[in-house]
Amino acid sequence: MPRISYVNGRYAPHADAYVHIEDRGYQFADAVYEVCEVAKGYIVDMAGHLDRLGRSLDELRMAWPMSRAAFEIVVREVVRRNRVMNGLVYIQVSRGVAPRDFLFPAGGRSSLVVTARKVNPAINAGKAEAGIKVITVPENRWDRVDIKTVGLLPNVLAKEQAKAAGAQEAWFVDADGNVKEGGSSNAWIVTKDGVLVTRPADHGILRGITRTTLFKVAAGLGLKVEERYFSVQEAKEAREAFISSATTIAMPVVAIDGAPIANGHPGSVVLSLRQAFFDVAEKRPA
Ligand code: PDD
Repeated sequence: MPRISYVNGRYAPHADAYVHIEDRGYQFADAVYEVCEVAKGYIVDMAGHLDRLGRSLDELRMAWPMSRAAFEIVVREVVRRNRVMNGLVYIQVSRGVAPRDFLFPAGGRSSLVVTARKVNPAINAGKAEAGIKVITVPENRWDRVDIKTVGLLPNVLAKEQAKAAGAQEAWFVDADGNVKEGGSSNAWIVTKDGVLVTRPADHGILRGITRTTLFKVAAGLGLKVEERYFSVQEAKEAREAFISSATTIAMPVVAIDGAPIANGHPGSVVLSLRQAFFDVAEKRPA
């Protein structure tokens, strides 16, 4: 069965799904995006992801390409047409196609691309069993990373650097030595007292949808969460560390810059969050 993607009003075979060379997403990274996990046939936390997409669009004064109701139908349709039971759906809105000019095009129409693909859940399950390693890198992104734009070159380079170091994620660190977030995930630690700590979602990080759901999961498990800054040093001495994102859910971190966290194995708190996640997350059938 060929993959089907949605591009500006049509469902096309994935191999023939193109945007124009003067799309502003391509030329200026003038585009925003979302990634939702699909698990057991459900789109996870779709409302939260579309709310955040709306915020990203508003912040950049970009128009929705269609009504939100129609948008939801397209997203679900792409998942359905690709028969994705487990995997992800990717949504990208750009300011559209226009002759190259820095200024916003007058009366331009936003472009919408939606793709979906299957991911074998055993891959993430295996990663969660082993835990992942992270490295730390100095923050070098702009100060509006709260907007989910496709301008991800620093994230690409940081994650490539992590790979070269035998790690799977890079944590951006601010000038004071505090952890911000990962290249494509939020960063968390668990203190010796069992308190979850993650950086406040001010303009310095993306307010992860998985992060928000994990607050509810933690409350359900009777765990305390503190939104505060934490340093690389505190993270290295923590009882546990983990990352969160739509594609990883809560994923144990077992080493930071080559130093093992606690005994170097995934912690029990993160694994219990991971297990309880789907009971709490919003699930919408595709
Ligand atoms: N990334 N921080 C950054 C920089 C991210 O790119 C992401 C998600 C997150 C976590 O957000 P959420 O829980 O809503 O997925 C935090 C997606 C998965 C990606 O770019 O592929």
